[in-house]
Amino acid sequence: MRFYATATLGLEDIVAEEIEDLSGTRCEVDVNKVFFSGDVGIIPRLNYLSRCANRIFILLLRDKFSNLSDIYSLTRSVSLSSYVEADQSFAVRATRHGIHDFTSIDVARVVGQAIIDSYLDEKGVRLKVDLENPDVEIQALIRDDEFILGINTSGETLAKRGYRVYQHPAPIKPTIACCLLKLSGWSPDRSLLDPMCGGGTILIEAALMARNIPPGSFRREFAFERLRFLDPSLFEEVREEAEAMVNFESYEIMGIEKYRKHVDGAIRNARSAGVLDTVRIIHGDATKWSYEPRPDYIVTNPPYGLRIASKRATLKLYREFYERVKGLRGTTLVLIVGNNWFEEIFKLNPVERREVLYGKLRSYVLKYLL
Ligand SMILES: C[S@@+](CC[C@H](N)C(=O)[O-])C[C@H]1O[C@@H](n2cnc3c(N)ncnc32)[C@H](O)[C@@H]1O
Repeated sequence: MRFYATATLGLEDIVAEEIEDLSGTRCEVDVNKVFFSGDVGIIPRLNYLSRCANRIFILLLRDKFSNLSDIYSLTRSVSLSSYVEADQSFAVRATRHGIHDFTSIDVARVVGQAIIDSYLDEKGVRLKVDLENPDVEIQALIRDDEFILGINTSGETLAKRGYRVYQHPAPIKPTIACCLLKLSGWSPDRSLLDPMCGGGTILIEAALMARNIPPGSFRREFAFERLRFLDPSLFEEVREEAEAMVNFESYEIMGIEKYRKHVDGAIRNARSAGVLDTVRIIHGDATKWSYEPRPDYIVTNPPYGLRIASKRATLKLYREFYERVKGLRGTTLVLIVGNNWFEEIFKLNPVERREVLYGKLRSYVLKYLL
């Protein structure tokens, strides 16, 4: 079977590497997504275990098109009867990038009609449409002259882990937090600090990684559980195998946060994720902290200066943080920031610099060897 996973723009290669590690399959890196092949067991496996991917799709079709009527005939050529049963409902979610003389609503309508018509041909049954709570969600992606059709096996984004009980006003997506941790090169036998930890996402994700706790273990449901062609024992096997790998070792994973409210929130989130005993969360100031003992890795998501703090206050914070950490010889620092202010202040050249799209916000991921 062919699949694709969606990824944050700019971090696709990290998602590809994780999928290759988890499934032993080769990935083709694309914009916003990675393509790969595998057997059906990859569906529960990646949904349950991937820390970096946003969603996992079964690839039904990937082809070039020139107009809506091509989209209709391409979709019509796809047999859905092995994925959708006659009493199940479906919905089409369409997205479109590029310049076209039709909208994504037109795409959803045409694809939906083609699916109904082809199913009617094949099975003599008119499939039900349920836009609110479909059994099977079909994704139709238009990018310039490329048309991709897939089945969403995740449902809601895998970034929605299900452990967050405290909502920080500017949290990082857990999938991005994991990409930053992977990019840093951190491994659980080394010490890790997030000196501006907010609601604790980076720490919690690091603790889950260290202890091999599956990121999917907090989710109430995955869309693949409604796909009847998928034997439920495959999911059971993945869960059992993953459970046996969980460890209860101790690790040096620490967070600092200036505001008491967020410290309490991060503690609540860590407790909810079952890793409160694996992280230390301290009420303190990143610009006054001693950084003793020296952390091997600092991975952090400082304020962007957009939503919470003003530009002046943010520049001051970056400057004071820089003064504190610049002498930490041997520490690897990875940050995600929303502007180039940090690079202007930081005198070192980053060993890696990436532009990523964080929601609609262009952001920068910077890696420094101090
Ligand atoms: C963008 S948020 C981090 C969000 C976090 N990654 C999460 O997922 O919840 C930045 C955090 O840095 C904290 N902060 C700002 N200045 C600080 C300082 N001098 N020392 C420690 N924390 C600080 C803010 O209170 C805020 O919670």
